[in-house]
Amino acid sequence: MQSFPKVLECISDLSKDQIEKLIHSANRLKSGYVPVGSRNLGRKFTPIVATSFLENSTRTKHSFAIAIKKLGAMYIDFNADTSSLKKGENLEETLLTLHYQGVDLCIIRTSVSGELNQFKKDPPIAIINGGDGINEHPTQALLDLFTMFEEGIDINGKTMAIIGDCKHSRVGHSLTSLIPMFGGKIIFCGPKECLPEDIPANCEATTNVDEAILKSDVLYTLRIQKERHSQKAAYYDNYEEEFGVNLKRLQRLDKKIPVFHPGPVNIGVELDYETIKSDLYLGYKQVTNSVFMRMAILKAMLIDA
Ligand code: NCD
Repeated sequence: MQSFPKVLECISDLSKDQIEKLIHSANRLKSGYVPVGSRNLGRKFTPIVATSFLENSTRTKHSFAIAIKKLGAMYIDFNADTSSLKKGENLEETLLTLHYQGVDLCIIRTSVSGELNQFKKDPPIAIINGGDGINEHPTQALLDLFTMFEEGIDINGKTMAIIGDCKHSRVGHSLTSLIPMFGGKIIFCGPKECLPEDIPANCEATTNVDEAILKSDVLYTLRIQKERHSQKAAYYDNYEEEFGVNLKRLQRLDKKIPVFHPGPVNIGVELDYETIKSDLYLGYKQVTNSVFMRMAILKAMLIDA
C-alpha cells in the first residue's frame, strides 16, 4: 500500500483507498475511540504539531487545534506576524527551524497558490495544506465527503451542484478532484466570471441556478471570494436574487436535497437564514466532522512519518 504523503497539498496526493481509510478512521474517532498522547500515536515522544496561518481563518485553524489536542499531541500556534518571516526569512528556513526544534508537522495556510508544492521533493517537515490561495483546501473536501458518508449520501452516480465562485474557491477545486474519484458528477453554477475555465470530463457548467438545482442530488454552496477579485463585479449587487440558494427557491423547485457550505456563510447572499436553520442544511455537521477528519489525517501522517 502507498504510504501516506509527507506533504498533503491536494486531493490527488491521496489514493482512493487512503481516502476510504481516512473516512473509516474519522468515523471510529467520532464514535469514541480517542487515542491519548504519544503511546497511542505509536511514538516514544509526544508529537508536536504547529499551525501557521498566513491568511485569516476561524474554522480550519480552530478545528485543527482541537484535533491536535484531542489526539494528545502538543500544539504550537506559530504566529507568522511576529515571526522571522516578517524579517524576510523564507518559508523553507522557517520550516527547517521548526523541524530542528522538534516540531513534527506544520499545518500551513497561505495566500500563495501552489506555494507548498516546492516542499514535496525534499520536505523540511510534514506539511498539511490548510488552504493555499485559490489552489486547494484538501482537508475541507475530505471532511465534506466524510459528512456525506455519514448522512448516507452515496455520491457514486449522483450529481453535486457547486454554486458560487467555483473559479476562485480552493474548496471548489478540491471537490472537483474528489467527487469524480467517488463516481460523482459536478454541475458548476454561478455568474459566468465564476465558472471554471476547464470543465472536467463528465461535468457541466451553467449560469442558471434553477437548472443546476433541478439536475442535482446535493448542493454545495460557496462564498463569493471578493478578496481574490481585482475589482468589484457587476453581479455582486443582485447575487442573492440570481444565484442565491434560499428555501423559497428550493420549495418552488420541489427539491428537498442536502445543502453544504464550508463557511463562512454570507447570510442573505449565497444562502438565506431559513435554509441555514432548516434540516436540509449540513453546515454545522461539517463543522463537527471537521475535528474528526482532521484527527484522522493527523494520526495517519504522524504515524507514517
Ligand atoms: C473556506 C476557505 O478558507 O477556503 N473556508 C474554510 O476553510 N472553511 C471557504 C471560504 O473562505 O469561502
